[in-house]
Amino acid sequence: MPKAFAPGKCILFGEHAVVYGHPAVAVAIDSGVEVEIKKSDSWTIDGMPLEIDRHPHISHILKDIFEYDGDPLEIRISSGLFSTAGLGSSAALSNAVGAALEVIIDENHEIDKVALARIGHSAEAKAQNGRASPTDTATSAIGGCIVVSGNDVEGTEHIFSASLETPEGTRTWSIGKVVIPEEIDAWLVLGFTGKASPTGDMVSGVARLLKEEPKKIEEMNAIANITQAGLTALSSGNVEAVGMAMNACHERLRNIQVSSPELDSLVDAVRPHSFGAKLTGAGGGGCMVALTRYPQRVAQEIEIAGGKPLISRLGAEGVRLVN
Ligand code: PMV
Repeated sequence: MPKAFAPGKCILFGEHAVVYGHPAVAVAIDSGVEVEIKKSDSWTIDGMPLEIDRHPHISHILKDIFEYDGDPLEIRISSGLFSTAGLGSSAALSNAVGAALEVIIDENHEIDKVALARIGHSAEAKAQNGRASPTDTATSAIGGCIVVSGNDVEGTEHIFSASLETPEGTRTWSIGKVVIPEEIDAWLVLGFTGKASPTGDMVSGVARLLKEEPKKIEEMNAIANITQAGLTALSSGNVEAVGMAMNACHERLRNIQVSSPELDSLVDAVRPHSFGAKLTGAGGGGCMVALTRYPQRVAQEIEIAGGKPLISRLGAEGVRLVN
């Protein structure tokens, strides 16, 4: 009866700019999705009959990737992530389903994180009309701190390359990792606004803005510079500088109109007790993230300001089997 866990993710730097070829930096968080699969007499998901079309990630992994034709399966899912909040819950689900299913098929199978990242990416693409960046799935599978870019990024260790046939042509990415020094004494606190983060709408909104005001492309270049500075600060364990880069990144994201009053108010509420804070992911709704030495205090500030907090270490372990 294999059980697998895959973490969610949070983007520290580079959201939106990554759509224009710049790097994005994401970290795996402690919360994620656990999936338990066992052979059964009938197909069920969380005790209900499995309607395969309602679960495009799972159906793609079962049918297209593993071409599974064995006994019916009972699938149980439990998630510690806010959904539609930009925390990568569908990527975590795909990675955990892939890991558990590999063991159903071959009980001696050992986890191959890169293979699972590829399976997860394929499932995300299938569920999103052929368009998906590998950021969420790679971060959830590999864990730690992951950098995704069109090209290799200085100061990162290359792990694998991914490509995808999209409606706009072939896209390729380089996925690298950065080791965060263990002695870092700081926590991430995410704050969910309670509103869904409509990634597609936000990305189209930015594209529209850039068409109307071409000078705004400078904001993207600025985000790319901040991302590089943030990465250097992260790998040397300079939390003060990471926080400054987060604050600067939030201002640039505001300038491209992807923040919201709710995100700004959570960011403002936590700044006095944080190294830095910014919205994370697509914006519009979804989450903000703070880097702090006082996670409980910051979590309280988020609750008082009307958000839902989630505390995490900075870069959790990737997909794994659990007992
Ligand atoms: O909110 P999320 O995790 O879906 O983040 C989206 C990140 C974007 O850069 C806005 C879009 C993308 O495809 O990278």
